[in-house]
This record gives sequence, C-alpha cells and structure tokens, in this order.
Amino acid sequence: MRRNRADEWVRRLTRESNVTPGDLIWPMFVQQGARARTPVPSMPGVERLSIDLIVEAVGEAKALGIPAVAIFPVTPQELKSEDGKEATNSDNLVCRTVRAIKEKHDDIGVICDVALDPYTTHGQDGIVRNGKVLNDETVEVLCQQAFVQAQAGCDVIAPSDMMDGRIGAIRQALDDEALHDVSLLAYSAKYASAFYGPFRDAVGSAQNLGTADKRTYQMDPANADEAIREVALDVAEGADMVMVKPGMPYLDIVRRVKDAFGLPTFAYQVSGEYAMLRGAADRGWLDWEKVIVESMLCFKRSGADGVLTYAAPQIARLLGA
Ligand code: PBG
Repeated sequence: MRRNRADEWVRRLTRESNVTPGDLIWPMFVQQGARARTPVPSMPGVERLSIDLIVEAVGEAKALGIPAVAIFPVTPQELKSEDGKEATNSDNLVCRTVRAIKEKHDDIGVICDVALDPYTTHGQDGIVRNGKVLNDETVEVLCQQAFVQAQAGCDVIAPSDMMDGRIGAIRQALDDEALHDVSLLAYSAKYASAFYGPFRDAVGSAQNLGTADKRTYQMDPANADEAIREVALDVAEGADMVMVKPGMPYLDIVRRVKDAFGLPTFAYQVSGEYAMLRGAADRGWLDWEKVIVESMLCFKRSGADGVLTYAAPQIARLLGA
C-alpha cells in the first residue's frame, strides 16, 4: 500500500477527492449601517458587515473563485414581531443587500435563507400559536418571503425552516410569478442541533429563543432513515439541490443522500463546527490551516458537491497559495 504514498507526485495522482474554491459557499451576516463591522465573539474571525462592506466582500469572493455567497440578516430588535412579517418586506435588509450585490456583481450566485427566525420575537422559524409552530400558515408566509427575495434578484432560495410541503409550495409560488429561473436549495436534512449556537448569537436570535428549542420541526440527531424520507419529499416537490446540516458530525447522512439521489448535495459546516476548530486553533491546540483544509477533503470524500463554510475565503486563499 505504501508505494502509492511514497512521493507527493504519486499521492496527487492517486488522490480520490479534491477541494477547489469552486466547492465553497460563503455564508455572510449582514447588519444595518454604513462602513460598519461587528465581530461575532463566539466565531473568532467572523464579522457582521453593513451592506457596503458585504458588497466588497462579495467582490473578494469572486476574486478568490468562490461561486456563491449566502446572506443572513441581523434584524434590529424593533423590527422583530410575533409573526415575523418583516420577512416579507420587499425592502428589508436581505432584499436591499441582494439588490446592492447584484448592482455591482452579476456573475456570482446569491443564496438567501427562507425561515422566519431572524424576524420573530420568539426566535422560532415559523408562526406560533398556543405554543405550537403552525405548518401551513407558516408555509404561506415563507412563500411571500421567497417571492420578495427572488424579486430582489436572489439566484437560489434556500428554505431552512423544515416545515412540511414548503418546497412544493414555494416552487409553485415562484412559478406563478414567472420566477422560473430561481433555484431551490432545500435544507432537507436539517437537524435540531446545538451546533447552531454561535449562529444564533451572530444573528441575535439566541435571546429571542431563550430556553426553547426547534425539535418539533428540525430532525432528531438520532435519525438517518428519516433523512432519506425528507430528501425524497423535497426532490419530489422540486428541489434543485439538497443540503445536510450540520456537516462534519453528519457525514454519514451526506453519503447516504448522495448515493440515494445523485442530486447536487451540499453540506453546511455550521457555526459551532467553525467555532470548535477556530477556538482550538486560537489556543494553539490545532493547526488551523491544516484542519480546515482536511475538513473540506472529508466533506468531498463523503460525497458532498460543495460546502457552506464561514472559512470559505481563508480556504480559497490557502488552496491558491
Ligand atoms: C435559520 C438558520 C439557522 C442556521 C442557518 N439557518 C439556525 C437555526 O436553525 O436555528 C444555522 C447555521 C449555523 O449554525 O451556522 N433557520
């Protein structure tokens, strides 16, 4: 076995997986203001940026060969409400950001999340009544949210809410408005994970959610067969691409989904995964450059076509070096 590992040239020649900047999606946090940047304490190296700085960061992504960015809003508390209706405002932070990006850069993909949690005072992804997250009422609002984002110029709508039937409903809503060209990237197998903690700090939904959780709609980390059923439904309803989330602890799911459907399959290296690696590296316990590139190879080996990662620009720079 060691003959194929003896020299770098033969290791390169026999390598089964590769990572390129073309495999990366860069999630970004947008905040209000001008020339404003606010670090996220639980995600060292990640900052919330005002729209003007987001547009610059997208330019950087393009220069690095990163094909797409994903936009997440930091909604001011006074714009949050019980029903999250700011989500459907065609002039909300996300829509303004998408228009600003598209004005400056037309040849990079812009992905927008669909879910109500950045906009609700209770921090849940949907409409809540009598302590329950309502399914069909939420899906109606998600369709409007998807519509305003698509109209703003978003290329890919990524529903992360885990309501039943939302992929079919959103596809129909977009088609009814002649927005046939807008793609759907379904967060199909999204687990009720504690690895989302730093993200909720970043977008400011952690205090809203308090001690509540999302286990009545996000998946049980114990389940794998159920992920296949989730993906099958989203594919039948019209998903163009699917996602597994979180990433590294769920690579078995990535492999099963890729093998079962052969669809473009993405994995999300979520905020807590980034924080683990960065936190250890900042203490000198891990070599950041080596572990972050190794983690990307693991995603590719497991069958992922690409990875959403907060380290996208750093990885792209390391690959180019
Ligand atoms: C919102 C959403 C979440 C993430 C992406 N979209 C948080 C959640 O479901 O609570 C998490 C991303 C991350 O942790 O990096 N529905």
